[in-house]
Amino acid sequence: MTRQLLSLSRKDAVTRRVVNLNEAVRTTGKLLSETLDRKIRLEFDLTPETTNIKADETQLGQVLLNLAINARDAMPEGGTLRFTTRTEDDKVTVRVTDTGTGIDPENLSRIFDPFFTTKEKTKGTGLGLSVVYGIVKQTGGTIDVKSELDLGTEFIITFPASSEPRKDTAQKETRLAGGAEKIMVVDDEPEMLNLLETAMKDLGYTVVCAKNGMEAVEQAAEDIKLVILDMIMPEMDGMTALRFIRQKTPDVKVLISSGYTSPEKVPMLERIGIEGFVQKPYELGKLASTVRDVLDGVAV
Ligand SMILES: Nc1ncnc2c1ncn2[C@@H]1O[C@H](COP(=O)(O)OP(=O)(O)OP(=O)(O)O)[C@@H](O)[C@H]1O
Ligand SMILES: [Mg+2]
Repeated sequence: MTRQLLSLSRKDAVTRRVVNLNEAVRTTGKLLSETLDRKIRLEFDLTPETTNIKADETQLGQVLLNLAINARDAMPEGGTLRFTTRTEDDKVTVRVTDTGTGIDPENLSRIFDPFFTTKEKTKGTGLGLSVVYGIVKQTGGTIDVKSELDLGTEFIITFPASSEPRKDTAQKETRLAGGAEKIMVVDDEPEMLNLLETAMKDLGYTVVCAKNGMEAVEQAAEDIKLVILDMIMPEMDGMTALRFIRQKTPDVKVLISSGYTSPEKVPMLERIGIEGFVQKPYELGKLASTVRDVLDGVAV
C-alpha cells in the first residue's frame, strides 16, 4: 500500500473530471474503516451542499489516504481521525484532523519537502506529503497545516469548486481490450502480484507469476510474449532481471511497472530496450490498453 501511495502520477496519465469531494471522502473512509485499527475513531462531518471539484479521482484518493495514514501513524495509542468538508463561495474545503502527537514547530516548514521524515527508515520515505502537495497544486488547490504538540494536527485543503455538470460514470463502462497471449507478471509484493494476475486473467491472458527477478529469469520462455516487470525488488532488481530475460528471450516485450519513476530515468530505460511503463496504482483501463498496444507493436 505504501508503495502505491508513492506513485507520483505522470502528467499525461492524469484525467481530470468533475468529482464529488464528499464521495471521495466516503470512498476513502470505507477503505479506512476496513483497515484501520479500532483504537482509531473515524468521524465524518460532510456538508450537504455540493462539493464538486475538477480533479483526478485516483489522485484525490491518494491525497486523502496519505493524510489518513500520517494521522494513523501519529496516533499509535489511538485517537480520532476526522474528515470535514465545507463549500463556501466558489471554494470546496476538506479538513483532515487527528488527535495525535502533533508536529514539532521546528519541523513544520519541512514536512512537504521530499524525503523529509521523522519515521524509521523502514516505516517512511518522506514522500507522502510531497506527493500530496504536488497533486493539490496540480489540481489548482492550496494546502495548509495547523498543528499543536501532543494535541493533534489538521490539514486543510481548498479546491476551486466546479459548476460543470458531472459526466455519468455508469456510462463509462466500455469493454476493456484483452487478449489470449501468455504474459509474465513480476512483483515482490504479493498483493500487487495478485492484483496484476487477476486483472490480466480477467482480460483473457494466460498469466505466469514471478515474485522476484530470479524467478522471472528462470521462467522466461519463448511462448511468453510480454513481461510486466517491477523495478524495485529485493534479491535481483528489475534492471538486472531485464538484462537476463533479454539474453534468454530477445524478442519478448517488456513493460516496466513502477510506483515511483523519476522522469529523468525514462530515457535511460528506453535505451536498454523496454516498450513502456505502467504506473502504480494501476488504472485498469489504461493498463489494459497499454498491454494490448505493446503486444500489437503499437508505440505507447
Ligand atoms: N498527521 C501528522 N501528525 C504528526 N506528524 C505528521 C503528520 N503528518 C505528517 N507528519 C510529519 O511529517 C513527516 C513527513 O510526512 P510524509 O507523509 O511526507 O512522510 P512519512 O509519512 O514520514 O513517510 P511516507 O509518507 O513516505 O510513508 C512525517 O514523518 C511526520 O514527522
Ligand atoms: Mg506519510
